[in-house]
Amino acid sequence: MENLKQDIEKILFSHEEIVNASKRIAKQIEEDYKDKEPVLLCTLKGALPFMAEVMKHIDIHVVTDFIDVSSYHGGTCSSGTIKINKDVAMDVKDKDVIIIEDIVDTGRTLKCLIEYLKELGVNSVTCASLVDKPETRVVEVQADYIGIESPNAFLVGFGLDYEEKYRNLPYIGVLKKEIYTK
Ligand code: PRP
Repeated sequence: MENLKQDIEKILFSHEEIVNASKRIAKQIEEDYKDKEPVLLCTLKGALPFMAEVMKHIDIHVVTDFIDVSSYHGGTCSSGTIKINKDVAMDVKDKDVIIIEDIVDTGRTLKCLIEYLKELGVNSVTCASLVDKPETRVVEVQADYIGIESPNAFLVGFGLDYEEKYRNLPYIGVLKKEIYTK
């Protein structure tokens, strides 16, 4: 019988570490937004498990929404260089938005998303990212709340995919090289 774990070189972040990081971020968000009612904006699809984990530990009113974007590599972030596959459903004008990301890698997606939300007239925008990969950044952008800092490795699990698979692993692991080179 096939088992997903056999494709994983090593577990980098256990489920327990992810839960603890999510709880820490939730408490920081509570403190920073105690007089506000922020919008938790989940970026599909990778951030879905982190969104579900972090939101249940936030003990102030929040509202939720979802967006699916792709950034065009090499482009700047002026309007038109971000592809909106699924737009926000609510009117975010004058709202305090917290982008929920699974990973900030090159930074292109986050940078373009921040620009896009500013064009929509948000009052403020920050980002909570479960994983930060600072070594691979190509544009200057930084998440405000970071769960875990990772070295440059091929990560899968807890939302992170390889060819749309492995998102359902309860931990984040390094994918065996033979899986993505075959
Ligand atoms: C992933 C991830 C981030 C982005 C980070 O999304 O969820 O949004 O890439 O990469 P970057 O910093 O290099 O821009 P992806 O477009 O792969 O979609 P997915 O969430 O559906 O997997």
